[in-house]
Amino acid sequence: IQSTITLNNGTVIPQVGLGVFQTPDGDTTVNAIEAALAAGYRHIDTAMIYGNETSVGEGIRRSGVPRGDIFLTTKLWNDDIRARRAKDAFQESLDRLGVDYVDLYLIHWPVDGWQEAWAAMQDIYASGRAKAIGVSNFQAHHIDDLLADSDVLPAVDQIESSPQFDNEELVDFLATKHIDVEAWSPLGGTGGNLLSNPVLAEIGAKYGKSAAQVVIRWHIQRGIVVLPKSTHAERIRQNFDVFDFVLSDDDVQAINALNTCRRNGADPDNFDF
Ligand code: A2P
Repeated sequence: IQSTITLNNGTVIPQVGLGVFQTPDGDTTVNAIEAALAAGYRHIDTAMIYGNETSVGEGIRRSGVPRGDIFLTTKLWNDDIRARRAKDAFQESLDRLGVDYVDLYLIHWPVDGWQEAWAAMQDIYASGRAKAIGVSNFQAHHIDDLLADSDVLPAVDQIESSPQFDNEELVDFLATKHIDVEAWSPLGGTGGNLLSNPVLAEIGAKYGKSAAQVVIRWHIQRGIVVLPKSTHAERIRQNFDVFDFVLSDDDVQAINALNTCRRNGADPDNFDF
């Protein structure tokens, strides 16, 4: 049975969701969404900039799983934040997805104009077309700035986190603010070598699980939302087969010790897109 988390506005989110970053528009995405929903996933995380919202919507419709059973997230892209066109961009995302609401809408990166975007997102939330709103790639200082200016708490902050870069200080800070954490690049990301670490294979062997399953389970036991990405049906299924074992404290400690403090993706305090 898959686990869920109740966000600070009462919305319930399945703890494991399919990430579709770098999943090309067209059959690859449609097939990945169908495979995930058939495997039991009920949470999909996309973004305008991924360029695959149309195929995500198509995959949802083809799956036959009712829209209301699926937790769907998309994100407001940086150019739309800078151009102060959050509301139009949101409607365009709904149109591409072919839905009349999303479960979660996120500011993708803290670029110039995010304060105005946050105000617009509160209107979107009030309209009922986003069941929850939040941010992504916000550091503690961005959250402090946001809270100084707004009574509405972001439901989540989606940040890079994996055993290679656990981001624990930020995770702990967000917990004090009652903002739930979603992990992107939870497996160490495309082109990373985390999953080939023998420590993970050794731990997995004890439970009859792969390195990827061990890492996903480690995220679950930290109490955060985890968004593994794969375009392969077999891996998509495998990454959801993580609700029938529990890592021991020793194993969790051994995984914690893999932290190198090196990011796989961009630094939210120093990026140029
Ligand atoms: P692919 O999409 O070809 O399956 P992250 O979620 O951290 O961004 O990492 C995703 C990367 O890990 C992708 O390159 C993905 O490749 C790969 N991946 C996802 N699931 C598994 C798995 N169960 N076993 C091995 N590699 C995986």
